[in-house]
Amino acid sequence: MKKTVLTGIKPTGRIHLGNYIGAIKPALELAAEEDPVYFVADYHGLTKIQDAEQMKDLSYGIAATWLALGLDPSTSIFYRQSDVPEIFELSWILACFSSKGLMNRAHAYKAIVDQNRETGREIDDGVNMGLFTYPILMASDILLFQSDLVPVGKDQIQHVEIARDLADTFNRQFGETFKLPDYVVKEESAVIPGLDGRKMSKSYHNTIPIFEEPEKLKKLINKIKTDSTKPHEAKDPDDSTVFALYREFASQDEVSKMRDRFENGIGWGEAKKELFEAMNHVLEEPRRKYKYYMENREELDRILAEGAGKARAKAKPLLNEVKQKIGIKA
Ligand code: ADP
Ligand code: TRP
Repeated sequence: MKKTVLTGIKPTGRIHLGNYIGAIKPALELAAEEDPVYFVADYHGLTKIQDAEQMKDLSYGIAATWLALGLDPSTSIFYRQSDVPEIFELSWILACFSSKGLMNRAHAYKAIVDQNRETGREIDDGVNMGLFTYPILMASDILLFQSDLVPVGKDQIQHVEIARDLADTFNRQFGETFKLPDYVVKEESAVIPGLDGRKMSKSYHNTIPIFEEPEKLKKLINKIKTDSTKPHEAKDPDDSTVFALYREFASQDEVSKMRDRFENGIGWGEAKKELFEAMNHVLEEPRRKYKYYMENREELDRILAEGAGKARAKAKPLLNEVKQKIGIKA
């Protein structure tokens, strides 16, 4: 029996290498073996992006990214979250079974509260209710499709655990209804470093967008922070952003050769050149496809609409069952 693998990406910025290596690439590897349900989490994006043009561009961007990197809409369920109203109906139901305390402890909210406290602001400054209840909508995304596996980056583990908690609470009260999902995190790529060596993240402005044009890509790679070891001096591959990224784009054989070259003192310029070559080789074709989709948005609309049809058909029976159990439907 194939497992249902579900994941979403929210349209809050340009997809970077951290998103690709930490979340998208592992998800696509799983998609090849299991039943994928992959989507554009646009209503999650609304907690941050509140400008219509930006929302449209970024949402199409996420859809084009999935397809450009090889997601096959004919063998998967691929949709825009906002096209599936059943998700929002379940989200309300789940909200009525979520304790507020559980939401208070969710890390994205807690981080803002902690920061506000430190800077002497009102604790809920800058928090909208969408952000506060974010984990409930995410639980609805996951539970409505009876997901077995949820491939995510490390920072999303807590959200999957909250989904599990909510499923368990509901099941105890109303009998076996939702499957308890498991997260999948690839340990070795759990945290991809950015240009400055900190976690690559939009919030740190240290990202390398995956579909950057070759010249720009080369320039960004040249900006990656390195230590002051000189050419010919041994370098520690396991403490290098250049190596951490190279490992994701080269073959096993090439990676072990590069490991030797680091230990034998490859120059940083040379190592970065090799990284660019490996990366460009893998991303050239997806970059071309990404551009194609971004210039043919009606094709994206058509693919997403078809996916939403499949998603709704799959979601309806479970939502009906839930509504019967809570006495909202005969
Ligand atoms: P950002 O930190 O740039 O705002 P998001 O929070 O939108 O990125 O993350 C989208 C997905 O990409 C999540 O599953 C997240 O865990 C993963 N991800 C983001 N940055 C990294 C990183 N540097 N290393 C590994 N995975 C990452
Ligand atoms: N919260 C996820 C992120 O920030 C995006 C997301 C929304 C998601 N719904 C999901 C991921 C369901 C996995 C499953 O990256």
